Amino acid sequence: AEGPTPNGTELSFTAIAPVDAETDEFTVPEGFDWHPVISWGDPLFEDAPDFEWDAQSAEAQKRQFGYNNDYTELQEIPDSDGKRAVMFVNHEYTNENIMFPPETDEDAVLEIGMAAHGLTVVELEREDTSSPYAYVRGAELNRRILLDTEFTLDGPAAGSELTRTTADPEGRTVLGTLGNCSGGLTPWGTLLSGEENFHGYFRATGTSEAEKRYGLADEETARNWEAKHERFDARTEGYENEPNRFGWIVEVDPFDPESTPRKHTSLGRFKHEGANVIVADDGHVVAYSGDDEVFDYLYKFVSRATYVEGDREHNLTLLEEGDLYVARFSGNSPEAEIDGTGELPADGAFDGTGEWLPLVVDGASQVEGFTVEEVLVNTRLAADAVGPTKMDRCEDVEPSLLTGRVYVACTNNSDRGTEGEAPADEMNPRTENRDGHVVEIDEQGDKTSTTFAWNLLLVCGDPAQDEQTYFSGFTPEQVSPISCPDNLAFDSVGNLWISTDGAPDGIGYSDGLFRVTVEGDARGRVEQFLAVPREAETCGPIVRDVERTAFVSVQHPGEDGEWGAHTSHFPDFDGTGPKPSVVQVLPRAE
Ligand code: FEO
Ligand code: CA
Ligand code: CA
Ligand code: CA
Repeated sequence: AEGPTPNGTELSFTAIAPVDAETDEFTVPEGFDWHPVISWGDPLFEDAPDFEWDAQSAEAQKRQFGYNNDYTELQEIPDSDGKRAVMFVNHEYTNENIMFPPETDEDAVLEIGMAAHGLTVVELEREDTSSPYAYVRGAELNRRILLDTEFTLDGPAAGSELTRTTADPEGRTVLGTLGNCSGGLTPWGTLLSGEENFHGYFRATGTSEAEKRYGLADEETARNWEAKHERFDARTEGYENEPNRFGWIVEVDPFDPESTPRKHTSLGRFKHEGANVIVADDGHVVAYSGDDEVFDYLYKFVSRATYVEGDREHNLTLLEEGDLYVARFSGNSPEAEIDGTGELPADGAFDGTGEWLPLVVDGASQVEGFTVEEVLVNTRLAADAVGPTKMDRCEDVEPSLLTGRVYVACTNNSDRGTEGEAPADEMNPRTENRDGHVVEIDEQGDKTSTTFAWNLLLVCGDPAQDEQTYFSGFTPEQVSPISCPDNLAFDSVGNLWISTDGAPDGIGYSDGLFRVTVEGDARGRVEQFLAVPREAETCGPIVRDVERTAFVSVQHPGEDGEWGAHTSHFPDFDGTGPKPSVVQVLPRAE
């Protein structure tokens, strides 16, 4: 395919035209094909039954690929000639309205839904490096992590009074993980995953300041797990702290199916979108994480110990102890020049400086009135006390491993500047921000620094519609419209790739995957690489530009449909309902 090759990338393509949001197709550039790698219900183990729409069971689902794949990452298996890889996938939530025939027993719906949450590790193989990957049923590393899988809670808040329950009086062993949204790959080959909307799974008294701040309420939850499993009812004596055992960053070793996954309290508890790490020049490991809620915050963690190349056992402990910070941004233009429309201030940039405000340093709380345990469990309350910047929903926060600069996807915030809410500022410059923006943070060579410079790389939207957008000065007529940036990835030469979630409700196009040039004259050029089917969000992008291939998770296709009136038939297009799937895009075979 023709098309630009920013930074000399091998992956040239001609951007696709934006796709109308009603379209139930997977769209790729001219000269490319798409292939589902794995779909909801695919059997992972030899003893797993094949998926049948009319014969689902919890026992089967526990042995099959889960629902609503979000974060996705691949690692090539050493010494496999590039033919085998291990893939890690989050299953964020379920869409019961389109998963089950209406006659399905209520209890079965609840239990199958539970089993469709969690995580999957699965091996892939391909004939050669230009062939599509297929998953391998029964492979050695295949694993499902479920709501009854034991996790170790570690770090300073583990074992505290705030994490103990009747079932776990030590406060160190948690069953399962929930709401896993995005994540990141560590330099030692493990995966991090963010427990995001955990509050939606618990009924609580909703009376404490902390419960209110985290959205925990005395209301029947969407899936009503609390009716059958008392730990999801935090009103139950002995389970008041169960919600405190979710909302963490979890770490999984995909190369050891017997390993116990961990939840790291040192990175704080909030609606973590995910976490991404980079090793600082002095060896400290730095992790960035956003709290995906309107007007919530951006965080940074710095490990106490340092990375040791080749010492995996040591590196596996690095996220257990360290310092935690929250971001405050200052703009360098007069406030009067930020009018909430997104129009550029007179200096021609949304930019300024910022600082990382300490919450925990050297194992000690930096927040008056909070113990370390309280800072880490009720991180939102502790952060409120130090005055960070209220953001427009931070989704992925990811450092470029080539430049060290950090990119933050602020997906949208329809409440910005509305009555009683924080007004637009230089960092979040649009009132009722429908389309989101992307921040670039430059810690100027020192990843452990407590100060930084920042600017907005993109103020998203469709330049053809009546709204202010900004593409770092690149000609708006030559970019693909983009809205609601969510997940981020980089290719081998440092181009930024963005997948979106919410464009149909804003600019009216399907969500997709976009390449953004960040260096040179074409900085700010956005090119759409693919579009996902109807009502789906695009997640977990993986870009292997040297092989001219990319992968995305297609999450919640057809989510607004119902049984008998499905709005998407992806990926089989055989008249049956949709199945969330991981898809590989690669050049069409000759
Ligand atoms: Fe699950 Fe923040 O998206
Ligand atoms: Ca400025
Ligand atoms: Ca997300
Ligand atoms: Ca999202």
